[in-house]
Order: sequence, then C-alpha cells, then structure tokens
Amino acid sequence: MNVFVPHAVPGASAPRHIAIIMDGNGRWAMRRGLPRTAGHRQGVEAVRRTVQAALDLDIPYLTLFGFSSENWKRPRAEVEALMGLLRLYLRREVEKLRRDGVRIRFIGDRTAMPAEIVALMNEGEARTAGNDRLVLTIALNYSGRHEIAATARRLAAEVAAGRLTVDDIDDAAFSAYHFSADVPDPDLLIRTSGEQRVSNFLLWQIAYSELVFVDRMWPDFQKQDLEAAVADYQRRERRYGGVNACR
Ligand code: IPE
Ligand code: IPE
Ligand code: MG
Repeated sequence: MNVFVPHAVPGASAPRHIAIIMDGNGRWAMRRGLPRTAGHRQGVEAVRRTVQAALDLDIPYLTLFGFSSENWKRPRAEVEALMGLLRLYLRREVEKLRRDGVRIRFIGDRTAMPAEIVALMNEGEARTAGNDRLVLTIALNYSGRHEIAATARRLAAEVAAGRLTVDDIDDAAFSAYHFSADVPDPDLLIRTSGEQRVSNFLLWQIAYSELVFVDRMWPDFQKQDLEAAVADYQRRERRYGGVNACR
C-alpha cells in the first residue's frame, strides 16, 4: 500500500513539547483475538519506538500518559500485568535512555504505586538527572484534577506560612507550583485510538495545546504517525486569543 506521509513543513516551528495519550492497547488485542495484556506488551514497543522517534526529530520534551488514577478500576489481573510491564521497562530501558541523553522523570501520585516500582522510578530519575537531550516525562497514577488540587494545597500552605499573600495566587503562581514547573506546556497533544477526549490528562498545561487525534491504536503507532502529527501541528495557526499578522 502506498501511503502518503506528510513530512515536517520547512520553516514552520516544530513543537518543543509533545504529550501523548497512548490509547487503544486493549482494542488492538481484542481485534486479534488476544488478551488485552498482549496489547499492553505491544504498547511498550510503541513507547520505545516513539522515544527513539522523538530523539530523531530533536523534540526536547515528550510526556506519555502511562497509567491514570482511574485505571485502578480495571480488573486486578490487568493492573498487575501493567505494573509488571512497567517494572520490566524500567529495569531494561533506563540504561539505554541514560546513554541516549534522555532524562526520565515521573508525574503522578507515587504513594499508591508498588514500592519496588517506586524504587525503580527514583533510581531512573537519579541516574538520568544529568541528561538534557530529551526530557521524557511518564505520568503514572496521574490525574490532572489531583495535580491542580495538589498545587492549590501547596499555594494555600505558602499563604498560611506567610510566604505568599492571597493576591499572589494567579496563573503564573499556579504554573510555578505545579510539579512540572520546569517543563514548558505541551505544544501538541496527541491521542491515539480515535477517542476524542482528554481523560484527565494535564488539564492545566493543555490550555492552548494543539490537539491531534490519530485513529490508529497505540501498539500500531509508528514514527511516521508522529511525523504526520508534527506536520499537522505545523500547518496550524496558534492565536492564543489574539489576531496574527498577515492573515
Ligand atoms: C491504553 O490502552 C493503555 C492504558 C490505559 C494503560 P487501553 O488499555 O485503554 O486500551 P483500550 O482503550 O481499552 O483499547
Ligand atoms: C487514558 O486512557 C489513560 C492512559 C492512556 C494511561 P483510558 O483508556 O484510561 O481513558 P478512557 O477510559 O477511555 O477515558
Ligand atoms: Mg483506553
């Protein structure tokens, strides 16, 4: 099959930060008569490919939604399989990430994650802390609303301690007290599997992100799909509520 793949548009600025809701592992598997966990296994391969593609395309920030705070509702066996794959990924991949210049970091509530995985997360962050070619953020037990509420609590504590006044609490303060304060907001948010919703991902940070929905299931996501999403992004006009010149 001859598929037309749009490539990066010369001269148009590339997204600095791409965030991805990796969706469709279960459906990918079910369509093949396989258990959902087989889809998650293939999903890990897609993560590897996508990190490599981001490196190849010189994207400085990539954020992946790995496990939501709502995903605990899934059958226990599926949650355990996901944790097992995560453990394997962290054990096997961190050294390669370190060599490739990737800094790995995690957002989300670690307190509810299995202790062995938390140890691997901390170790991965520590071992790659000196890298700056690509900042790879993985959201685990993550909820955008929880993150906003946690930020509000931190700001309230600052006010209670007399370090901030009520009037100091504005957009900039919220961004500064978020856990990703040193990471720019996503320019581009991609969701695979054809679903068109944000499912509680990065709610504060995506206020002005360009959204691209890809019909392909996550295990089938390829470098060309990332390139196509980037090209789509580059054809868009970001206005932030204003009016651009020469249009
Ligand atoms: C995304 O695929 C992976 C996680 C949420 C962990 P799903 O497991 O949501 O796959 P579908 O949406 O059921 O097909
Ligand atoms: C979002 O996908 C979470 C991740 C990709 C980790 P879900 O499959 O959990 O979201 P819903 O249930 O379709 O909204
Ligand atoms: Mg899903």
